[in-house]
Amino acid sequence: MDYENILVEQPAEGVGLVQLNRPKAYNALNGPLMDELMTALERLDANDAVGCMIITGNEKAFAAGADISEMAQASPVEMMNLAFIDRWERLRDIQKPVIAAVSGFALGGGCELALACDMIVASERAIFGQPEINLGVIPGAGGTQRLLRTIGKALTMEMVLNDRRLSAEEAERFGLVNRVAPVDEYLQVAIKLAGEIAARAPVAIRLAKDAVNMALETTLTAGLAYERNHFYALFATEDQKEGMDAFLNKRKPEWKGH
Ligand code: CAA
Repeated sequence: MDYENILVEQPAEGVGLVQLNRPKAYNALNGPLMDELMTALERLDANDAVGCMIITGNEKAFAAGADISEMAQASPVEMMNLAFIDRWERLRDIQKPVIAAVSGFALGGGCELALACDMIVASERAIFGQPEINLGVIPGAGGTQRLLRTIGKALTMEMVLNDRRLSAEEAERFGLVNRVAPVDEYLQVAIKLAGEIAARAPVAIRLAKDAVNMALETTLTAGLAYERNHFYALFATEDQKEGMDAFLNKRKPEWKGH
């Protein structure tokens, strides 16, 4: 498939990289771009040579939100028919870890896209915000829900109600991002992190991601049972036998992915 709005590459062993590529519009997330992004992620998810993925933009913008020109005149039914937000849901079905490498603007849907990833590496120039209130609307792709679960109610209210933006340093302090790096290094930092994750036992990585995400969905009792079932299930893999044997024999494990 030829992509028009994204670039896809494999910058390191086990790492799939998708770069949003509408620089003139600050990578505004229009329908075609979101379709291509989700298709690319699903293909990387199905690719055995890839163990971890990265979504990035450019130094000036991760993404400045949903494309305002696409929805300015829309009715609610047209918005539903556009399946505008539904595309974001496909990201939830990706089984391998996805890291957002963010520099510049991560606004509106751009902030929500980063929040929907499993980890965020930010450049010192990253700016996170939910400015939808300035357009007479509210976040529609998870901002109110995921921000609250990440940085708490007080700051979420300020971001959503009053367009409070977070610098990279603030985002790190409040637990929104995993690490901050200089602008000419953040992508390499993300690639290194992705490479390290991709080199780990693949089935355990998938179940670990799934178990952590379940904590956002359920009660502690149900979540503990869910985690325990995943833990037991991993004893059916050769990688569990390999990992424990390697530890006991003081050697490096060789993961098979089953
Ligand atoms: N949609 C469509 N086009 C956008 C865009 C967006 N979200 N953000 C920027 N652009 C376009 C501008 O229209 C402009 O295009 P032209 O050159 O053709 O005029 C180009 O990108 C450059 O933008 P600016 O001239 O505004 O550049 P700036 O440097 O002065 O400001 C900015 C940059 C602060 C990112 C500013 O463009 C901005 O505020 N963008 C909108 C941010 C926003 O409101 N995002 C929320 C969108 S709604 C949403 O995301 C809903 C949801 O929850 C799913």
